[in-house]
Amino acid sequence: MKKIAIIGAGNVGGQAAFFCAQKKLGRVLLIDIKEGLAKGKALDQNQALYLMGINPLITGSEDISSLEGSDVILITCGVARKPGMTREQLLKINLSIVRDISHVVKRLSPQSIVLMMTNPVDILSYACMKFTGFPRERVIGQAGVLDSARFATYISQRLDLSSADIDAVVLGGHGDTMVPVPEFTTVSGIPLPQMVSSEDLDGLVKRTRNGGAEIISYLKDSSAYYAPSLSAVLMIEAVLKNEKRLFPCSVYVDGEYGMKGVFIGLPVVLSEKGVERVICIDLPEERRDDLKRSFDFYRGEIEKIQSEVEA
Ligand code: LAC
Repeated sequence: MKKIAIIGAGNVGGQAAFFCAQKKLGRVLLIDIKEGLAKGKALDQNQALYLMGINPLITGSEDISSLEGSDVILITCGVARKPGMTREQLLKINLSIVRDISHVVKRLSPQSIVLMMTNPVDILSYACMKFTGFPRERVIGQAGVLDSARFATYISQRLDLSSADIDAVVLGGHGDTMVPVPEFTTVSGIPLPQMVSSEDLDGLVKRTRNGGAEIISYLKDSSAYYAPSLSAVLMIEAVLKNEKRLFPCSVYVDGEYGMKGVFIGLPVVLSEKGVERVICIDLPEERRDDLKRSFDFYRGEIEKIQSEVEA
């Protein structure tokens, strides 16, 4: 069986462990330095799995070195945003956490594929690639699956029709420079702009960009976790089953779309290699500009941490 290590047993990590086991993707190791947290959740989850007719697949641990030999490693640990806080303000704290974990990953699971969830996800994916020295195929950030799910859900509610018929495309960074692409978002094949007024469209786009913050404003002491964790688990599934799904993922750009040297959300085919390939499409001019803005923002952010990640 494949081994999936999930680092951080908070809301996102805990829920991701459970979704992985529910889908029987492999043995799941849930790790958290907080004493008892991962072990307690694993016990509870295995008992729930029993009720679903699934064998106990989840082990909890406080020991980061137990990730040895993992096929996929999902990094969810770190500090979550508080109301009013930007993802970028988290950077300082979470960068040092990602540094420590990346070094363990490099030493004990040098062939693994790492999925980053911790925010700011695009910047920390870059940092993780630098710290591990892994090729870009094997470090991927989760953001676009979640952001597209949010866009699709809002569209479904606005149009009052089934979400099953909606395919939403959201590219760019996971933050204020996110790039929802209405022109390529379809409702059973019909381009979204033909289904809603331009005013409604603006509202849907804004709400998508603000999707994480909207949930934090309700939960107050937590950020979202059901949709974020399932988004990551669908990516894990695509990798472990070599599904070649086309997902928007935060990926290291190496010339695609005229960009280089940052992680940003683009359409990616996910396979057992991790990033199988990045799909280049002709974006409408306005979206190209939006993507460029997002790229410029992240390039600036990465410059600020360059000395720390090269060290
Ligand atoms: C969100 C956080 C997880 O968007 O980034 O909900």
